[in-house]
Amino acid sequence: MKTATITFQYLQTTAEQLSSAERQLLDAAKEACSKAYAPYSNFRVGAAVMLDNGLIVAGNNQENAAYPSGTCAERCAIFYANANYPDNAVSAIAIVAMDSDGCITLSPVSPCGACRQVLLETENRYATPIRILLCGAKEVYVIESARSLLPLQFDAQNVGV
Ligand code: THU
Repeated sequence: MKTATITFQYLQTTAEQLSSAERQLLDAAKEACSKAYAPYSNFRVGAAVMLDNGLIVAGNNQENAAYPSGTCAERCAIFYANANYPDNAVSAIAIVAMDSDGCITLSPVSPCGACRQVLLETENRYATPIRILLCGAKEVYVIESARSLLPLQFDAQNVGV
């Protein structure tokens, strides 16, 4: 018997330290956040995706009275990108959330498990790591790849594809 350890590194930085392209991505996520449809949780989330051709597409959480019918911002943005630009890899995603007062959360919000799985599949599909920017009011966390957010991940290799 032995103990295995999986570690993961991420960068803690600020919006000012990001490149101008990343700041643009962050601004698109903020704009998308303000347009979210979240009447049940009052927790609005915006996600903006950068494609390998530099194009930015955004999405936000879309809730529904039948709760499971809604979707998170990340999946909204990723699925929109994959649906409309199937030939372009996703190279980065910025995620931002607003509390019920409309203020950007102090700490960055991190994607839920289902969104992590979708990010991972998108990375694998295009064989391109997705740079993940988690944006809070004060700091931004930068994660180099969705793989690190899902240790011992379930992916196509597990089903023999
Ligand atoms: N939500 C997201 O959009 N992204 C996440 O990563 C976590 C949660 C949404 C789902 C729901 O509409 C609201 O936030 C409260 O959970």
